[in-house]
Amino acid sequence: MQSVSHAVFEGTLLAPGPVNLHPKVLETLALPMIHHRTPEFDKILKQSLQKLQQVFRSKEPAFILTSTGSGGMEALLVNVLASGDEVLGIDSGKFGERWCEMAKIYGAKLTTLKTKWGEAVKISEVAKHLQENPKTKIVLCQACETSTGVLHPIRELGDLIHQHPNTLFLVDGITALGATPLPMDEWHIDGLVGGSQKAFMLPTGLSFIAFSAKAWKVIHTNPTPRYYFDVRRELKANQNGETFFSSNVTFIRALDVVLDLILAKGYENHLAEIAARANFTRHFAKDLGLTSYSHSPSNSITALIVPDGVDGQKLRLRLEEKFHITIMGGQDQAKGKIIRIGHMGHITWEQMQNLFLRLREVLLEMQPSLKLEKDSSHLAMEMKAWVLHVHS
Ligand SMILES: Cc1ncc(COP(=O)(O)O)c(C=O)c1O
Repeated sequence: MQSVSHAVFEGTLLAPGPVNLHPKVLETLALPMIHHRTPEFDKILKQSLQKLQQVFRSKEPAFILTSTGSGGMEALLVNVLASGDEVLGIDSGKFGERWCEMAKIYGAKLTTLKTKWGEAVKISEVAKHLQENPKTKIVLCQACETSTGVLHPIRELGDLIHQHPNTLFLVDGITALGATPLPMDEWHIDGLVGGSQKAFMLPTGLSFIAFSAKAWKVIHTNPTPRYYFDVRRELKANQNGETFFSSNVTFIRALDVVLDLILAKGYENHLAEIAARANFTRHFAKDLGLTSYSHSPSNSITALIVPDGVDGQKLRLRLEEKFHITIMGGQDQAKGKIIRIGHMGHITWEQMQNLFLRLREVLLEMQPSLKLEKDSSHLAMEMKAWVLHVHS
């Protein structure tokens, strides 16, 4: 038999996605293939769609798309946006910029509300725009803008947009859904997208979407041509226990396992675990001279400003090269200035503590004059105590 050669990376993924996979997910990914048009798979699909709906916290159906998160963003748009529609796109970083670009390509009459990187959008500015532009059909916003680590005030935006009967609120929850509270119905979100490689602890390649009842009215009359991402067709197929196109059997089986793990633990407890890692990071970052880049930090990821004279990109590369720990640097205008640490996925407290000790080591290696108050054993002791307290 021919041997298969592939690089085995035995490191720790603490990036904003992809993330460390749970051992049960790894096992499931290795199962033999079954056909997607079988009662066995139909059952798995049906139950995972029902469980997914619990994560979306919606009475409306959730969908699984075989596409990365960007495909899910496009699916939200093509189903409700018609060429010439007025759209307000909140652009607070890389992914806001991407969604605005997409909306423009589909013919939106787009107004971009740019916020400074690291800052959340101001509700008053959105309110003013909606008042002055009553024909606004769609507002686009990231829940967590991954390039800056900012969490936007989605609940407040939902409450505001809900007062406008002809305006839909579409939310990119790719790094937020499953990591931070985002109850779709309660917060008046009209379209929501999540991504598999983030809080869903799967490989990259699936996205999850759902629409509100308000959005479904638009979907049925929207003249925009659509094919692969037509949710009307997918809804019918799902009601018959199938996906319209070939199903990603391997990933959907793994999704079913992940959703079981999350729901068995309790969704709120799952969110609390991620929040605890975010709190830990924010707390101990100060001991390494790292300050928050975001004025409204998310629990999904933490973006930290590196000390003067340290290149964030080199820092993250060194951490990976020397200790096989992967975090991310900044993008575009934040390149070199920040590092981004992800809190989603299968992460142990040992990995969190190790990250900080190794980060400290690399920081001092790159900047020996850096004055850090605590030595490594002091830091290790405090981190251990912190973790013990969390578990007590
Ligand atoms: C907030 C946000 N939106 C969109 C995307 C794009 O998702 P994908 O790369 O899966 O297409 C990402 C990916 O990191 C993201 O974090």
